[in-house]
Amino acid sequence: MNNVNSDGILTIKNLSKSFGGIKAVNDLSFSITEGHIHAVIGPNGAGKSTVFNLITGVFMPDNGEVRFKNRNITSMRTDHVAKAGISRTFQNIRLFPEMTVFETVLMGTYLITGGKVFPALFLTKNFRNNEKAAKERVEEILHFVGLWDMRDEYAAKLSYGNQRRVEIARALAMNPQLLLLDEPTAGMNPQETKELMDLFSLVNKQGITILIIAHDMNLVNVLSDQITVINFGEKLAEGPPKMIHNHPAVIEAYMGRAEANA
Ligand SMILES: Nc1ncnc2c1ncn2[C@@H]1O[C@H](COP(=O)(O)OP(=O)(O)O)[C@@H](O)[C@H]1O
Ligand SMILES: [Mg+2]
Repeated sequence: MNNVNSDGILTIKNLSKSFGGIKAVNDLSFSITEGHIHAVIGPNGAGKSTVFNLITGVFMPDNGEVRFKNRNITSMRTDHVAKAGISRTFQNIRLFPEMTVFETVLMGTYLITGGKVFPALFLTKNFRNNEKAAKERVEEILHFVGLWDMRDEYAAKLSYGNQRRVEIARALAMNPQLLLLDEPTAGMNPQETKELMDLFSLVNKQGITILIIAHDMNLVNVLSDQITVINFGEKLAEGPPKMIHNHPAVIEAYMGRAEANA
């Protein structure tokens, strides 16, 4: 099960991370094919968010390697990971309360243009051109995610579903080749969930590879090309949705936990 396709856009190899005595991620390997929507599913506490934090440089692994486009990015700084082409949304939405939708998404573009917001640079023609291009890009993205009409509202005051859209728009403004979504539809109503799933599909059609974490297997069944199931930080199963759906170990992990939680 540890066979890893090293041609993938992102490959993690033998990744491990412990917190105290807890092995949150334990010798985990998998690879994401460019252009795919790849889902990571597993019960609460399985280590899913930790995997994202290891990929994006929030945590350093105890062991193992993260490769993106055949480049070793293990333990790279988070902003460098973003510049390399990986952007993400968080399990708990993170938005600045005093920023409008437009400003929030514009900030995403600063990250890749080097955050050139210093007053002295306002005078250079180059900066003004950059700023104009960035604003045009934000406009395009806001139309794309369906938030243009809300551009001047405070992001944190929007409905939960629209706040998630702002986060996605901010991530897209960083011009990613790979987008990481950590339980993006948790807490959404069925309508919001469906609309977000449609949006992810559209994003993917633009050529952006997606790695999506989900708790609910049914959500990603329709959307994803490949599913990696993890439990206790280890890979339990991997394959296309049809195969995973009927996998005995997966059913047991889910049913076992469901009963335990009931
Ligand atoms: N920063 C942290 N400090 C200590 N323990 C953590 C930290 N992050 C995660 N853990 C632990 O690691 C395990 C996996 O957590 P997590 O990756 O958040 O799981 P999931 O996202 O699959 O629900 C859990 O036991 C959790 O309590
Ligand atoms: Mg999580």
